[in-house]
Amino acid sequence: MNMQVRKNTILITGGSTGIGFALAESFVKLGNRVIICGRRADRLEDAKRRLPALSVKQCDVSKEYDRKNMYAWIEENFKELNVLVNNAGIQRRVDFTKGTDDLLKNEDEIEINLKAQIYLAAQFVPMLSKQKDAAIVNVSSGLGFVPLTIFPIYSATKAAIHSFTMSLRYQLRGTSVKVFEVIPPTVYDTELKGEPIENAAWTVSSSEVAEAVVKGLEEDEFEIAMGPSKKWISSTRNELDLTFGNINH
Ligand SMILES: NC(=O)c1ccc[n+]([C@@H]2O[C@H](COP(=O)([O-])OP(=O)(O)OC[C@H]3O[C@@H](n4cnc5c(N)ncnc54)[C@H](OP(=O)(O)O)[C@@H]3O)[C@@H](O)[C@H]2O)c1
Repeated sequence: MNMQVRKNTILITGGSTGIGFALAESFVKLGNRVIICGRRADRLEDAKRRLPALSVKQCDVSKEYDRKNMYAWIEENFKELNVLVNNAGIQRRVDFTKGTDDLLKNEDEIEINLKAQIYLAAQFVPMLSKQKDAAIVNVSSGLGFVPLTIFPIYSATKAAIHSFTMSLRYQLRGTSVKVFEVIPPTVYDTELKGEPIENAAWTVSSSEVAEAVVKGLEEDEFEIAMGPSKKWISSTRNELDLTFGNINH
Protein backbone atom coordinates (compact mmCIF):
# COMPACT_ATOMS: atom_id res chain seq x y z
CA MET A 1 0.00 0.00 0.00
CA ASN A 2 1.18 3.51 -0.80
CA MET A 3 2.09 5.98 1.94
CA GLN A 4 -0.77 7.99 3.43
CA VAL A 5 -0.02 11.72 3.57
CA ARG A 6 -2.50 12.44 6.38
CA LYS A 7 -2.54 11.56 10.08
CA ASN A 8 1.18 10.89 10.31
CA THR A 9 3.51 12.16 13.02
CA ILE A 10 6.46 13.69 11.23
CA LEU A 11 9.84 14.99 12.43
CA ILE A 12 11.48 17.47 10.04
CA THR A 13 15.07 18.42 10.83
CA GLY A 14 15.89 22.01 9.87
CA GLY A 15 12.17 22.73 9.69
CA SER A 16 12.15 26.39 10.74
CA THR A 17 13.10 27.88 7.36
CA GLY A 18 13.21 27.13 3.64
CA ILE A 19 12.25 23.71 2.29
CA GLY A 20 11.79 22.28 5.80
CA PHE A 21 9.26 24.96 6.74
CA ALA A 22 7.42 24.62 3.41
CA LEU A 23 7.16 20.88 4.08
CA ALA A 24 5.94 21.56 7.62
CA GLU A 25 3.23 23.90 6.27
CA SER A 26 2.04 21.36 3.70
CA PHE A 27 1.98 18.49 6.19
CA VAL A 28 0.13 20.52 8.83
CA LYS A 29 -2.48 21.58 6.23
CA LEU A 30 -3.03 17.90 5.39
CA GLY A 31 -3.74 17.08 9.05
CA ASN A 32 -0.42 15.61 10.14
CA ARG A 33 1.25 16.22 13.49
CA VAL A 34 4.55 17.94 12.74
CA ILE A 35 7.65 18.39 14.87
CA ILE A 36 10.54 20.53 13.66
CA CYS A 37 14.04 20.98 14.98
CA GLY A 38 16.86 23.41 14.35
CA ARG A 39 19.66 25.23 16.15
CA ARG A 40 18.45 28.85 16.29
CA ALA A 41 15.80 29.49 18.94
CA ASP A 42 14.57 32.68 17.22
CA ARG A 43 13.90 30.81 13.97
CA LEU A 44 12.06 28.04 15.83
CA GLU A 45 9.94 30.63 17.68
CA ASP A 46 9.19 32.42 14.44
CA ALA A 47 8.11 29.16 12.79
CA LYS A 48 5.86 28.35 15.77
CA ARG A 49 4.32 31.84 15.58
CA ARG A 50 3.59 31.38 11.86
CA LEU A 51 2.35 27.82 12.29
CA PRO A 52 1.06 27.36 15.87
CA ALA A 53 0.24 23.66 15.35
CA LEU A 54 3.98 22.87 15.20
CA SER A 55 5.93 21.28 18.01
CA VAL A 56 9.48 22.58 18.11
CA LYS A 57 12.74 21.29 19.58
CA GLN A 58 16.09 22.98 19.63
CA CYS A 59 18.68 20.50 18.40
CA ASP A 60 21.97 20.61 16.53
CA VAL A 61 21.77 17.39 14.54
CA SER A 62 25.55 17.28 14.19
CA LYS A 63 25.93 16.84 17.98
CA GLU A 64 25.49 13.34 19.35
CA TYR A 65 24.27 14.65 22.69
CA ASP A 66 21.54 16.73 20.99
CA ARG A 67 20.47 13.82 18.77
CA LYS A 68 20.11 11.49 21.77
CA ASN A 69 18.28 14.16 23.74
CA MET A 70 15.83 14.79 20.89
CA TYR A 71 15.27 11.07 20.44
CA ALA A 72 14.46 10.63 24.15
CA TRP A 73 12.06 13.63 24.02
CA ILE A 74 10.30 12.15 21.00
CA GLU A 75 10.09 8.70 22.57
CA GLU A 76 8.43 10.28 25.59
CA ASN A 77 6.07 12.64 23.77
CA PHE A 78 5.53 11.33 20.24
CA LYS A 79 6.13 7.59 20.34
CA GLU A 80 3.72 7.26 17.40
CA LEU A 81 6.30 9.06 15.19
CA ASN A 82 6.26 7.36 11.79
CA VAL A 83 8.10 9.75 9.43
CA LEU A 84 11.60 11.20 9.71
CA VAL A 85 12.53 13.92 7.22
CA ASN A 86 16.30 14.39 7.19
CA ASN A 87 16.37 17.91 5.76
CA ALA A 88 18.82 20.02 7.82
CA GLY A 89 21.79 21.10 5.77
CA ILE A 90 24.30 23.83 5.11
CA GLN A 91 26.25 24.89 2.03
CA ARG A 92 29.73 26.43 2.02
CA ARG A 93 32.12 27.73 -0.60
CA VAL A 94 35.49 26.01 -0.18
CA ASP A 95 38.49 27.04 -2.26
CA PHE A 96 41.22 24.39 -2.21
CA THR A 97 43.81 26.80 -3.66
CA LYS A 98 43.88 28.29 -0.14
CA GLY A 99 45.05 25.07 1.48
CA THR A 100 42.96 24.29 4.56
CA ASP A 101 41.87 27.89 5.26
CA ASP A 102 38.29 27.68 3.94
CA LEU A 103 37.88 24.09 4.99
CA LEU A 104 38.70 24.66 8.65
CA LYS A 105 37.06 28.02 9.20
CA ASN A 106 33.67 26.85 7.99
CA GLU A 107 31.07 24.73 9.73
CA ASP A 108 31.46 21.04 9.02
CA GLU A 109 29.28 20.03 6.08
CA ILE A 110 30.23 16.37 6.47
CA GLU A 111 28.95 16.33 10.08
CA ILE A 112 25.71 18.21 9.30
CA ASN A 113 24.75 17.10 5.78
CA LEU A 114 26.01 13.54 5.86
CA LYS A 115 26.84 12.10 9.27
CA ALA A 116 23.76 13.52 10.99
CA GLN A 117 21.40 12.05 8.36
CA ILE A 118 23.08 8.64 8.68
CA TYR A 119 23.04 8.63 12.50
CA LEU A 120 19.45 9.89 12.74
CA ALA A 121 18.32 7.19 10.31
CA ALA A 122 20.06 4.52 12.40
CA GLN A 123 18.66 5.95 15.62
CA PHE A 124 15.05 6.12 14.40
CA VAL A 125 14.77 2.85 12.42
CA PRO A 126 13.77 0.76 15.49
CA MET A 127 11.06 3.28 16.46
CA LEU A 128 9.79 3.74 12.90
CA SER A 129 9.70 0.04 12.11
CA LYS A 130 7.22 -0.52 14.98
CA GLN A 131 4.67 1.57 13.01
CA LYS A 132 2.43 0.04 10.38
CA ASP A 133 3.41 2.63 7.75
CA ALA A 134 6.60 4.59 8.11
CA ALA A 135 9.11 6.53 6.05
CA ILE A 136 12.54 8.08 6.08
CA VAL A 137 12.83 10.99 3.67
CA ASN A 138 16.40 12.10 2.96
CA VAL A 139 16.94 15.46 1.27
CA SER A 140 19.90 15.36 -1.11
CA SER A 141 20.34 17.74 -4.08
CA GLY A 142 20.73 17.85 -7.85
CA LEU A 143 24.34 18.77 -7.02
CA GLY A 144 24.80 15.21 -5.78
CA PHE A 145 24.45 14.17 -9.41
CA VAL A 146 26.43 17.04 -11.00
CA PRO A 147 28.83 18.84 -8.63
CA LEU A 148 28.98 22.63 -8.55
CA THR A 149 32.69 22.98 -7.92
CA ILE A 150 32.51 26.14 -5.76
CA PHE A 151 30.66 23.91 -3.28
CA PRO A 152 32.92 20.82 -3.41
CA ILE A 153 32.20 19.35 0.03
CA TYR A 154 28.49 20.12 -0.21
CA SER A 155 28.22 18.37 -3.58
CA ALA A 156 30.15 15.37 -2.25
CA THR A 157 27.92 15.04 0.84
CA LYS A 158 24.84 15.06 -1.39
CA ALA A 159 26.30 12.38 -3.70
CA ALA A 160 26.99 10.32 -0.58
CA ILE A 161 23.41 10.82 0.63
CA HIS A 162 22.14 9.51 -2.72
CA SER A 163 24.27 6.38 -2.38
CA PHE A 164 23.41 5.89 1.31
CA THR A 165 19.68 6.31 0.63
CA MET A 166 19.78 3.56 -2.02
CA SER A 167 21.44 1.16 0.42
CA LEU A 168 19.10 2.09 3.26
CA ARG A 169 16.05 1.59 1.03
CA TYR A 170 17.33 -1.86 0.09
CA GLN A 171 18.19 -2.88 3.65
CA LEU A 172 14.77 -1.80 4.95
CA ARG A 173 12.79 -3.41 2.13
CA GLY A 174 11.45 -6.11 4.44
CA THR A 175 10.25 -3.61 7.09
CA SER A 176 7.38 -1.12 7.20
CA VAL A 177 9.83 1.75 6.58
CA LYS A 178 9.90 3.16 3.06
CA VAL A 179 12.93 5.23 2.15
CA PHE A 180 12.59 8.27 -0.10
CA GLU A 181 15.13 10.72 -1.52
CA VAL A 182 14.20 14.32 -2.34
CA ILE A 183 16.42 15.83 -5.02
CA PRO A 184 15.77 19.58 -5.37
CA PRO A 185 17.48 21.77 -7.96
CA THR A 186 18.30 25.37 -6.91
CA VAL A 187 15.53 26.63 -4.62
CA TYR A 188 15.32 30.43 -4.72
CA ASP A 189 13.46 31.25 -1.49
CA THR A 190 15.52 29.64 1.28
CA GLU A 191 18.36 30.80 3.55
CA LEU A 192 20.87 28.23 2.27
CA LYS A 193 22.93 30.56 0.09
CA GLY A 194 22.91 33.36 2.66
CA GLU A 195 21.79 35.82 -0.03
CA PRO A 196 18.64 35.98 -2.19
CA ILE A 197 18.93 34.35 -5.60
CA GLU A 198 16.97 35.10 -8.72
CA ASN A 199 13.77 33.29 -9.51
CA ALA A 200 15.02 31.97 -12.87
CA ALA A 201 13.73 29.18 -15.11
CA TRP A 202 16.25 26.74 -13.60
CA THR A 203 15.08 27.36 -10.04
CA VAL A 204 12.00 26.27 -8.08
CA SER A 205 10.31 27.53 -4.90
CA SER A 206 10.31 25.71 -1.58
CA SER A 207 6.55 25.24 -1.87
CA GLU A 208 7.02 23.54 -5.27
CA VAL A 209 9.45 21.15 -3.57
CA ALA A 210 6.92 20.49 -0.79
CA GLU A 211 4.16 19.85 -3.32
CA ALA A 212 6.36 17.35 -5.20
CA VAL A 213 7.26 15.60 -1.94
CA VAL A 214 3.62 15.11 -0.94
CA LYS A 215 2.82 13.74 -4.41
CA GLY A 216 5.95 11.55 -4.40
CA LEU A 217 5.06 10.03 -1.03
CA GLU A 218 1.51 9.35 -2.17
CA GLU A 219 2.70 7.68 -5.35
CA ASP A 220 5.64 5.66 -3.97
CA GLU A 221 8.03 7.67 -6.14
CA PHE A 222 11.18 6.87 -4.22
CA GLU A 223 13.41 9.45 -5.93
CA ILE A 224 11.48 12.71 -5.88
CA ALA A 225 13.03 15.25 -8.25
CA MET A 226 11.68 18.47 -9.73
CA GLY A 227 12.79 21.16 -12.23
CA PRO A 228 16.22 20.48 -13.78
CA SER A 229 16.95 17.73 -11.22
CA LYS A 230 14.34 15.57 -12.92
CA LYS A 231 16.53 15.43 -16.03
CA TRP A 232 19.82 15.14 -14.14
CA ILE A 233 18.82 12.00 -12.23
CA SER A 234 18.27 10.08 -15.44
CA SER A 235 21.04 11.62 -17.58
CA THR A 236 23.73 9.59 -19.31
CA ARG A 237 27.37 10.10 -18.31
CA ASN A 238 27.90 12.22 -21.46
CA GLU A 239 24.90 14.42 -20.63
CA LEU A 240 26.17 14.84 -17.07
CA ASP A 241 29.61 15.86 -18.35
CA LEU A 242 27.97 18.49 -20.58
CA THR A 243 25.92 19.80 -17.66
CA PHE A 244 29.06 19.84 -15.49
CA GLY A 245 30.74 22.06 -18.10
CA ASN A 246 27.72 24.34 -18.37
CA ILE A 247 27.26 24.98 -14.68
CA ASN A 248 30.97 25.31 -13.82
CA HIS A 249 32.30 27.61 -16.52
N1 LIG B 1 18.14 25.81 -1.44
C1 LIG B 1 18.57 25.02 -2.40
O1 LIG B 1 18.88 25.51 -3.52
C2 LIG B 1 18.67 23.54 -2.20
C3 LIG B 1 18.85 22.71 -3.30
C4 LIG B 1 18.97 21.34 -3.13
C5 LIG B 1 18.95 20.81 -1.85
N2 LIG B 1 18.78 21.63 -0.77
C6 LIG B 1 18.78 21.01 0.55
O2 LIG B 1 17.57 21.29 1.22
C7 LIG B 1 17.78 21.24 2.64
C8 LIG B 1 17.16 22.47 3.26
O3 LIG B 1 17.85 23.63 2.81
P1 LIG B 1 17.14 25.02 2.50
O4 LIG B 1 17.52 25.40 1.12
O5 LIG B 1 15.73 24.99 2.89
O6 LIG B 1 18.02 26.01 3.42
P2 LIG B 1 17.71 26.78 4.77
O7 LIG B 1 16.57 27.72 4.60
O8 LIG B 1 19.03 27.35 5.19
O9 LIG B 1 17.27 25.62 5.77
C9 LIG B 1 18.19 24.78 6.40
C10 LIG B 1 17.64 24.46 7.77
O10 LIG B 1 18.52 23.53 8.42
C11 LIG B 1 18.76 23.97 9.74
N3 LIG B 1 20.06 23.45 10.16
C12 LIG B 1 21.28 23.70 9.61
N4 LIG B 1 22.23 23.07 10.29
C13 LIG B 1 21.61 22.41 11.29
C14 LIG B 1 22.07 21.60 12.35
N5 LIG B 1 23.37 21.34 12.52
N6 LIG B 1 21.16 21.07 13.20
C15 LIG B 1 19.85 21.32 13.03
N7 LIG B 1 19.35 22.10 12.06
C16 LIG B 1 20.24 22.63 11.20
C17 LIG B 1 18.70 25.48 9.68
O11 LIG B 1 18.33 26.07 10.92
P3 LIG B 1 19.44 26.51 12.00
O12 LIG B 1 20.53 27.20 11.25
O13 LIG B 1 18.70 27.40 12.93
O14 LIG B 1 19.90 25.25 12.65
C18 LIG B 1 17.57 25.68 8.67
O15 LIG B 1 16.32 25.69 9.30
C19 LIG B 1 19.30 21.13 2.84
O16 LIG B 1 19.65 19.79 3.10
C20 LIG B 1 19.84 21.56 1.48
O17 LIG B 1 21.10 21.01 1.23
C21 LIG B 1 18.62 22.97 -0.92
